[in-house]
Amino acid sequence: MGSGLVTMDATALKIEAARIALSYVEDGMRLGIGTGSTANEFVKLLAERVAAGLTIVGVPTSERTASLCLQLGVPLATLDEVPRLDLTIDGADEVDAELSLIKGGGGALLREKIVASASKRMIVIADETKLVDTLGRFALPIEINPFGRRSTEMSIGDAASRLGLTGELTLRMTRDAPFVTDGEHYILDASFGRIPDPRALSDALHAIPGVVEHGLFIGMAHTAIIAGDGGIRTLHATPHQGV
Ligand code: A5P
Repeated sequence: MGSGLVTMDATALKIEAARIALSYVEDGMRLGIGTGSTANEFVKLLAERVAAGLTIVGVPTSERTASLCLQLGVPLATLDEVPRLDLTIDGADEVDAELSLIKGGGGALLREKIVASASKRMIVIADETKLVDTLGRFALPIEINPFGRRSTEMSIGDAASRLGLTGELTLRMTRDAPFVTDGEHYILDASFGRIPDPRALSDALHAIPGVVEHGLFIGMAHTAIIAGDGGIRTLHATPHQGV
């Protein structure tokens, strides 16, 4: 018979992390609302609290999240209407021990980074499969301007190799056309493998004009709520302004 351990499926773990994150939400908050399957679970729980009388205003990090919020009755504003936020809650593709992140698996990294950087605090919600020693197992999404794509791609490759990183840059596709972000840009998924110095890579990518933004979130997350079969772990970082 069983060992007594309960193995939760991935969705159940996401719901658990989202449920804990919801306990950080207070009445009257201006809330950044993330994108992805974990953030969606948060939106569903948030909507229940809103229906029960919680007053918040949410700023969504993607058109997809905006649709879900509207469908479930979560009040929304644009970041122009509410340019400073109390808290952002979002998922991640990878989280390291310092709470540096890779984000953008869902293609929303630019708005996610703008919204997180407008927030006093960012809480990441994830299941424990997202925890890594060193970032880079997940291909790094890099959002680029469609103009001069091949040239930008070569500049990214050159910058990476100066840092000792190599790997394929794959244009993200939807069926037979390039995937287009909410900001009407393309995404290159960079399979560099381990990224020992994320800040150096971030700086190098930001120096390339065709790069709009990248999915390394360094020094932005204050707290990570990680759900696993053994329970919830809450990790904290020293807050500082990151990239
Ligand atoms: C969206 O662009 C991403 O940054 C997501 O936050 C990230 O991919 C996590 O998504 P899941 O919660 O679906 O794994």
